[in-house]
Amino acid sequence: MKKAVKCLISAGPTREWLDPVRFISNPSSGKMGYALAKAAVESGMEVILVSGPVSLPCPENVERKMVNTASEMNELMKNYFPSANLTIMSAAVCDHRPASTDHHKVKKLEVSKNITLVPNPDILEGLGKIKRPGQILVGFAAETERHLENGKKKLRQKNLDWIAVNEVAEGKGFESDKNEITMISSTGQSIFFERGEKLLLARKILDAVWP
Ligand code: PMT
Repeated sequence: MKKAVKCLISAGPTREWLDPVRFISNPSSGKMGYALAKAAVESGMEVILVSGPVSLPCPENVERKMVNTASEMNELMKNYFPSANLTIMSAAVCDHRPASTDHHKVKKLEVSKNITLVPNPDILEGLGKIKRPGQILVGFAAETERHLENGKKKLRQKNLDWIAVNEVAEGKGFESDKNEITMISSTGQSIFFERGEKLLLARKILDAVWP
């Protein structure tokens, strides 16, 4: 049992609002992050789950904090990160948000004129900058091409200890109950987990990053 280990996990998408009825988002269901939270509790860890809007129930014995936008997720992750031993960002954070959010529903013909995007903070990169010795920081990479090459780039750029690379394809990655993952470490290890249920993969990921 991994007692006294504080594990911080992010899951699900973020929503970036144009007006009260329209947002930019992505198809993340939260299944991967919730499976990680469940597996971490099973192994005896104390778990805080920062979750974007998803329809999944909170896993037992997990402290869940719901957020909506990338900015809200950034605030909570920065808040809990200093006391976490292990942090895993499996959330699919929107890279951009509308430059402004209208408080009234924008008229149909005006919508396309109103969409100017600005970059969101890179939450994981920010955590990588304030990481202390002994803290383990794990990211995910959702890739459609040159998976390992792009994953390694993100591992270095964001100062991670591990990155879980998954392909965006039918039957794995977003929305599916299953996934297929290659774990790459900052010390050059590479471990392939063949396609399987997200909960089984979550257990294997945790064993790799916190043996
Ligand atoms: O939720 P599911 O339907 O189960 O799907 C699971 C998943 C496909 C969402 C998950 O396995 C996954 O790959 N999550 C990361 C998706 C992603 O945003 O990847 P990325 O390559 O764009 O980002 C790289 C890393 O930086 C990620 O850890 C991400 O959380 C983080 N990031 C990205 C952008 C940003 N502004 N801030 C971040 O922290």
